[in-house]
Parts: sequence; structure tokens; C-alpha cells
Amino acid sequence: MTEESLNGMKRSLYCGEVRPEHIGQKITVMGWVQRARNKGSLIFIDIRDKKGIVQAVLSQETADPAVFEKAASLRSEYVIALSGTVQAREGAVNEKLATGAVEIAAEDIHILSSAKTTPFQILDEVDTREDLRLKYRYLDLRRPKIQHYLFLRHKIVTALRTFLNHEEFTEIETPLLCKSTPEGARDYLVPSRVHPGSFYALPQSPQLYKQLLMIGGMDRYYQMAKCLRDEDLRADRQPEFTQVDIEMSFVEQDDVMDLAERMIVEVFHEIAGWENTLPLRRMTWQDAMDLYGSDKPDLRFDMQIKDVTEHAAGSGFGVFENTVASGGVVRCLTVKGQAAMPRKKIDALTETAKLFKAKGLAWIALLEDGTVKSPIAKFLSEEKLAELTSAVDAEKGDLILFCADKKGVVSNALGNVRLQLGRELGLIDPDRHELLWVVDFPMFEYSEEEGRYMAMHHPFTMPYEEDMQYLFSDPARVRAKAYDMVLDGVEMGGGSIRIHRSDIQEKVFEALGFTPESAKERFGFFLEAFDYGAPPHGGLAFGLDRMIMLLAGTDSIRDVIAFPKVKDASDLMSEAPSVVDDKQLEELCLRITKD
Ligand code: AMO
Ligand code: AMP
Repeated sequence: MTEESLNGMKRSLYCGEVRPEHIGQKITVMGWVQRARNKGSLIFIDIRDKKGIVQAVLSQETADPAVFEKAASLRSEYVIALSGTVQAREGAVNEKLATGAVEIAAEDIHILSSAKTTPFQILDEVDTREDLRLKYRYLDLRRPKIQHYLFLRHKIVTALRTFLNHEEFTEIETPLLCKSTPEGARDYLVPSRVHPGSFYALPQSPQLYKQLLMIGGMDRYYQMAKCLRDEDLRADRQPEFTQVDIEMSFVEQDDVMDLAERMIVEVFHEIAGWENTLPLRRMTWQDAMDLYGSDKPDLRFDMQIKDVTEHAAGSGFGVFENTVASGGVVRCLTVKGQAAMPRKKIDALTETAKLFKAKGLAWIALLEDGTVKSPIAKFLSEEKLAELTSAVDAEKGDLILFCADKKGVVSNALGNVRLQLGRELGLIDPDRHELLWVVDFPMFEYSEEEGRYMAMHHPFTMPYEEDMQYLFSDPARVRAKAYDMVLDGVEMGGGSIRIHRSDIQEKVFEALGFTPESAKERFGFFLEAFDYGAPPHGGLAFGLDRMIMLLAGTDSIRDVIAFPKVKDASDLMSEAPSVVDDKQLEELCLRITKD
């Protein structure tokens, strides 16, 4: 079989665009053979391009014998150009195809490229192992579903740019080869050939550069910024991802939040028809942690955590009493209508709680017949039981799950049990979407690993003025002017108002345990800039990949990235990372010390 070139042939229409209005017209389409069916005297060819599939037909009686022979040799995924006249379908109309009422009576075919049998069929419905799909990502990309995600991505990026351009933002590129930024994850390093032993860091985010752009008078900046973080991957994390990165001068927290929420609500409406009223709901970090056990609460279902510490104190159940005596809390979830939950399911929830460091999950089931089933009922007086159940609004038919421990452990454990219940009991309506801001994050969080307080967002975040008095006496009490936007339980974006005064910055560094010398060594060039006139400024960054994943309704961030990496940060297609030549290592003065 000979492969041909285009030889001046021009596409006149996309396959997916052929409609009854084209009947009688001679057209040329180009694309991949989805399927060729040879029925002896009739050959049907389904041709696919980015807009869809159209059927072409040849009859042995009327077709040029050479063309008919060529059609008979077609296999799936051959690339062809096909010319012919559009006609109404002779067979039944295919309701499933947008082109299903018509077909092309083929007159000429050019085979532009042949194809081996592909490792998997190019069909949305075919459920192929993801590692195989990623090894042959270029074939996976031919599937309409993945194409749809990438077209959606383009539409969203275009809408975001249009919005920001209209608001007088300037798109500015920042370097990829940088000095390490203090964002908390591990850096990807790039060795310098010219400066042996020195390394660039790939940016975890353009944080310092965008602040320097504000000091540079650029006023309003944005960038679709590639960020690189060497961290453990999860379903919604990639080592290389894109941020919609924004920074503004002469603003306060409300100004940044107002702009960001208008952008998101407008773009989501335009792209997906989502209705959200402005301003978006705001919840303090403390409320989010207390009521939902998470700093990114999923509000698509209502179940809230309730505090019963007060009632648990004199309850008679040793675990509760001891926890309260040692300063801990007792909190619970009331699960409506689940009193009859099988023991195995409760055990599975207990395992989840334990995974998050809880010691157990005590439960009380208020059965429909008025009796109570519970491993702890025997410790509780009847009055205490009645007091506890009424304190948490539990009624006949409900199940109450208790956790007693330090506050942080209880929040985390019950927050995760809540999410599991939401998923397993089908409490989440897939058509409901809940956007909100979480605000008033703590400035610092204590790191057991480091044995000191660390900045929760980053050290350049402005603390609340009224909390500055606790910087040294009670750092955990200091709130930051930081905010996250949460969608359906996923952190979609976050940012803060930055410190623009050196006296405040020095104090924050001191609270973080930096000496003036060590701060200067790490961030000297950045801090010096603040001595030459810095405007008040702030901003935020949205995770673009996550945003698209949520809008597209898929649960994997890999679906919306053209060439994603897998869990161990490798690229299955190109097999990066890979070993390099000794010569390359020598040039960089590097020696590998581990096999
Ligand atoms: P932050 O680290 O919160 O803030 O990142 C902002 C947003 O980026 C997304 N994101 C990720 N997406 C995919 N894979 C990852 N590994 C990943 N890590 C983060 C999240 C997150 O909300 N410089 C600050 C922003 C600022 O203060 O302006 C920053 O990077 O959706
Ligand atoms: P035990 O008396 O240890 O068998 O515990 C009785 C019940 O209390 C079991 O259901 C345990 O899972 C639960 N339990 C144990 N420790 C805790 C805790 N810290 N918080 C909540 N429930 C607990």
C-alpha cells in the first residue's frame, strides 16, 4: 500500500460538521478511520476528527474500481483524505451522531498514513488501563473525552485572560530558573554548568517575582504560571502544574477577594452555566475546622460536627472523662437514619478515624423501636444518654459517632469520617456545587517535625494588626490576612495580603525563629526591595488544573493535562526522568553516589 501526500488537496469541512444543509455539495474531509466495514459490494468508512465522526460510503457498482480497492484496504486509525458528495443516509439515521442524518458518497480517497493496530481502541467507552493510556498518550488524546477536556481547558484559560485583561491586568512571564522560593514543598533543582556546585530551583510558584513586580510599579499582574513541586502526589496533585497567578497593588483583602470571586463566578457561568450569587459565602478557618473538620469543607452535604465536651465531662465513660480532664474535646457526627448501620460499616469508619490518629469511634444507635444499641451505653446513666442525644439533635433512627482526643485529632478524624459517610451514603448530589471562601487562617502552625512554628501560608503574609501583640506570647493565636477559595471540598485557590513594611516583616521573621542574618541570607535581595518604596499589595493563585478538573466533573487531574505524570512523578510515555550520559554529568561536575 502506498501512502500519498496531500498534493494540493484542501479540507473543506470538519468531519463532525457535515449536516443535511450540505446535501448535494462536494466536500473533502480529513481524519482518522474510526472503523471501516466491508459488506462485499458496499464499504462504509467512519472518519473521525476533532469535531466528530462522519460516515462515508462506496458502492462497487458506481465507484471507481481503484478507489473501491483503496477503500477495501483501510484499517482503523489510517489517516485519510476523502472527497465525495453529501447525501441523505440511505440506511437508518444514526441518532447518536450529530452527522447521523447524512453520509458522504465517496469519490476519491487518499491514504495519507497507515497505522498499526493500536494498543487500545480509540473509543470513550473502552475502559483501558491508565498506565497503557499514558504510555500512548498521543493515542489517548484522540479519544473525544480527553479532547473535550483540553478544549474546555482552552476555553477557560481564554475566558480568564479576557476577564483579567478587561480589569487592566498585564500578563507577565517570570523566570523558570530561580532561587528557591519559600513555599514549603521540596524544590526541583537544576545544576549550573557555569557555576559548578551551584543550583537553580524551578519555581514552586512565582511568589517573590510577582511581589517584586508590584514593587516595580506594574500595578496588576497575572500569569498562567507553570509551578513545580517535588511533593508526594495525590489524585489532585501533579509535580508540574499551572497556576492562574494574580497580584495587585494598593489593595486590601476585600479588594482581592472581590476581584477573584467575580472572575470565578463570571467564568464558571460563561463556561458551564453555573449560577452563584455574589458575594460568595465566607467561613472562618476556625468554623471550618470545628464544624467540618477540614480547612476545605465540602458543603454539598450538610452533616456538621457537634461539640459535646461539656456533656461528656461527667458522663461516666472513662475515655470521655479522661480526655476532657486532660484538656481534650469530645465531638460527634449525627448520621440521620443510619441507626441500623451494619457493624462492619461502623468498624470501617472507625478504621478511617484511626488512620487520622484517633483512638477509636464510640457510637450510639437510637433504634426505631426505641431501644439503644451502643458499646458505651453501659457506662452512661439514662439521664446522661438523654442529655447527650438531645444535645446533638439525634432522634429515633439516628446513629451518633463520637471521637474524644486533642482538638486537632478529633477535627481531622471526624472530618474524614464525614467525607466517607458523604460518599458512601450517597449524600452528595453530583449536580450541586458549593463555592466558598475560607478566611482568617492562623499565621503560624506548629511543626512537630521541625520543633518550631512555621508560616501556614508563607512568611510574607500580613498578620491581622490586632493580633500582632501575640506574635511572641501566643503565636498560635495570630490570624493571617490569608484566604482560600474552596469548591466542593477541594482547595481551588489561595492567597494573602503581603507584608509591605520592613518593621512587620522583621517581627514575623523573628517569630519564625530567623535571626536578622539568616533572613538576610535567604531572602536578602527580596527584603532589600522593600527599602525602596513598596505599595501595599496582595494576590492569590488558582490551581488551573484543579479548576478544570472540577468544572469538567472528572476526579483525576491527569485527565485535564495533555501530558501528565503518574504517582511516582515519572512520564510513562517519554520515560522521564532518565539517566544521562557520563559526559553530561562531568560537565556539571556531578557524581552519582547511589545506584
Ligand atoms: P498555594 O501553594 O496555595 O499558593 O497554591 C495555589 C493553588 O495551586 C494549586 N496547587 C496545585 N495544583 C496541582 N498540583 C499541585 N501539586 C498543587 N499545589 C498547589 C491549588 C492551590 O490552591 N504563591 C501562593 C499563592 C499566593 O499567595 O498568591 C501559592 O502558590 O489549587
Ligand atoms: P473500649 O472500652 O476501649 O472497648 O472502647 C469502647 C468504645 O469506645 C469503642 O467503640 C472504641 O472505638 C471507642 N473509643 C475508644 N477510644 C475512643 C476515643 N478516644 N474517642 C472515641 N471513642 C473511643
